[in-house]
Amino acid sequence: MGSDQKQVEVSYDVSNEFFRLWLDEAMFYTSAVYESADQSLEAAQRNKMRILCDFAGVDATSRVLDIGCGWGAAIEYVAREHASKAIHGVTLSRAQMDEINRRAIPGVEAMVQDFRTYQPTEKYSSIISICMIDHLCSPAEARQGKAIDIYREYFKRAWEMSTPGAKFGLQAILRNRVPRDKHDLTETYWVTHEIFPGGLNPRLEELITAVNPYWEVVEVHTRRDDYRRTTHEWRRRLRANEAKIRSEFGDQVYVDYDRYLSCCVNNFEKHYSSLAQLRLHRIDQ
Ligand SMILES: C[S@@+](CC[C@H](N)C(=O)[O-])C[C@H]1O[C@@H](n2cnc3c(N)ncnc32)[C@H](O)[C@@H]1O
Repeated sequence: MGSDQKQVEVSYDVSNEFFRLWLDEAMFYTSAVYESADQSLEAAQRNKMRILCDFAGVDATSRVLDIGCGWGAAIEYVAREHASKAIHGVTLSRAQMDEINRRAIPGVEAMVQDFRTYQPTEKYSSIISICMIDHLCSPAEARQGKAIDIYREYFKRAWEMSTPGAKFGLQAILRNRVPRDKHDLTETYWVTHEIFPGGLNPRLEELITAVNPYWEVVEVHTRRDDYRRTTHEWRRRLRANEAKIRSEFGDQVYVDYDRYLSCCVNNFEKHYSSLAQLRLHRIDQ
């Protein structure tokens, strides 16, 4: 069944103050999109949102759902830039919900709610989901050949929650190839099981298959180097705060997150992992 609530809390409930020390100021925990060599992480995160809002057809008249809304960065962006009619987010993490409540963003409504059982009172014209799909299929389920069916169920649920003509901006981390190097394989296994228990990154071909018969793939971009650069910048900020993190959150948290981010940088560099952004249109026939 992918990550359950307890496993999601392992990934996101270390402490909001801890994540605030090394993510961008809006607290996106997903790749940015860089448009120049000297662009800041903050500006690159706004680029990512501009692209995904375009993919999802977001404007002032939209009813927007963010599936896996994290600390609320995307719904905050939508509220600020588009002031859409309805802006809803679902997350499984209670700590993330606390942060969204703390921000008190006008016009948004977020819920601690499993997307798989969420029953909206009104359907959505725009769906955004940024690196949530990697929580849905566990390594054991992938080995049993269940990945495509699990991802198809996600696309079906998104279809059921949307209105005819709806658009969907999807971002997903990808697993491209298995490390051949023993150290890289060990590190990847450790991150998968200790930092993101219950989840596994999908393959691009699994997503392309699983969208059918619900969504048309209109555009796909892979952005492997953007995620390498994002994780590199996260690690730089983590290291710049080493003393504070060790004293406030403990040595093990610092050591684990340095190890995890180092594994990410390496995995994007060596093509083990990548990132995809998909422009999806609802199939209404
Ligand atoms: C990597 S974070 C991404 C957060 C956010 N989209 C961002 O860009 O920063 C994944 C998010 O998916 C949420 N999530 C995982 N499984 C979920 C589920 N079954 N239902 C709702 N949210 C879920 C987690 O709680 C978390 O907020």
